[in-house]
Amino acid sequence: MKALVLAGGSGTRLRPITHTSAKQLVPVANKPVLFYGLEAIAAAGIRDVGIVVGETQAEIETAVGDGSDLGLDVTYLRQEAPLGLAHAVLIARDYLGDDDFVMYLGDNFIIGGINALVDRFKAERPTAQIMLTRVPDPRSFGVAEMDARGRVVRLEEKPEIPKSDLALVGVYLFTSAVHGIVAELKPSWRGELEITDAIQGLIDAGRRVEATVISGYWKDTGNVDDMLEVNRLVLESLEPAVRGQVDENSELIGRVVIEEGASVRDSRIVGPALIGPGTLVADSYVGPFTSIGADCAISDSEIEYSIVLSRSSITGVRRVEASLIGRDVEVTPAPNTPRAHRLLLGDHSKVQISS
Ligand code: DAU
Repeated sequence: MKALVLAGGSGTRLRPITHTSAKQLVPVANKPVLFYGLEAIAAAGIRDVGIVVGETQAEIETAVGDGSDLGLDVTYLRQEAPLGLAHAVLIARDYLGDDDFVMYLGDNFIIGGINALVDRFKAERPTAQIMLTRVPDPRSFGVAEMDARGRVVRLEEKPEIPKSDLALVGVYLFTSAVHGIVAELKPSWRGELEITDAIQGLIDAGRRVEATVISGYWKDTGNVDDMLEVNRLVLESLEPAVRGQVDENSELIGRVVIEEGASVRDSRIVGPALIGPGTLVADSYVGPFTSIGADCAISDSEIEYSIVLSRSSITGVRRVEASLIGRDVEVTPAPNTPRAHRLLLGDHSKVQISS
């Protein structure tokens, strides 16, 4: 069995972070979200992984390399444009050959891995196996309609009026029978070759499509609120560790990790919280569910329930909350007079100011 991991696309909902960086590399607990998927694939005993990449190929390749660190053998498959999830399968046709494969969307996050799913597929070998989960608002997902016997009868991509609250999770298992259907697909109303249409094609052709409804937590980490939630969830199981320096005037409460080369002075950190390598926290409060990346500086500030990417600094600001702060960002106070906000924001930035 092979894996096909989708790490192309444009990530419009995470702009401006994704202007300069792949959305699959936004960190959760200081590790790119894509790595959780790759680790789950490795844990399921799969070694050969094709990663579909688009314009952020160079960045993904730098982060993942040949995959050997994760016990994987990675091949990069270039998709010239994000023409749809089924288009990714189409361009991977030669790589996948006649093997069964698991398709994993690189921005999805599934707690508990995929071992059980892969084992079930290997034992039963349906043509396709999908995962569904109940969501409060299914309109931004593929949505499944089931019959009384629990079989999927219809799948619809991002319906305006969903027929159920069962959303398609971004992990699918296929035999090579899917390729025949994918080759025949026509672009949908949004101009993409939809994997949902391919699975519907299999159902219509009388092929066996199995669905598992999972209640385990998962998220499509496509937007900021979801990123913060997933970050919170992963930090909840953080093993406390102090590998850097913490002075005697500082207090660490609960599950806190201070990475190597980090330094905490005259500060209070309430976990779960993660302070990245080389980062300085001075005269500050870092509250629960916060991940600070590498080589940042938090001084004379308060921050909680936030993600800060590497090399950013926050100085003299209270309080930052529910925020996603990119790389090399500076947040500082304005002079007292005039009392004004001075902003230098990239395209598609979002700022909420309380004053
Ligand atoms: O997250 C689950 C949902 O994922 C499913 O419920 C939907 O049925 C499915 O269509 C998909 O919807 P999204 O709109 O969330 O997909 P998105 O465009 O975000 O793409 C998912 C991943 O695949 C992301 O890492 C980018 C990558 N991708 C996407 C496209 C369209 C590619 O590599 N190539 C592509 O052409």
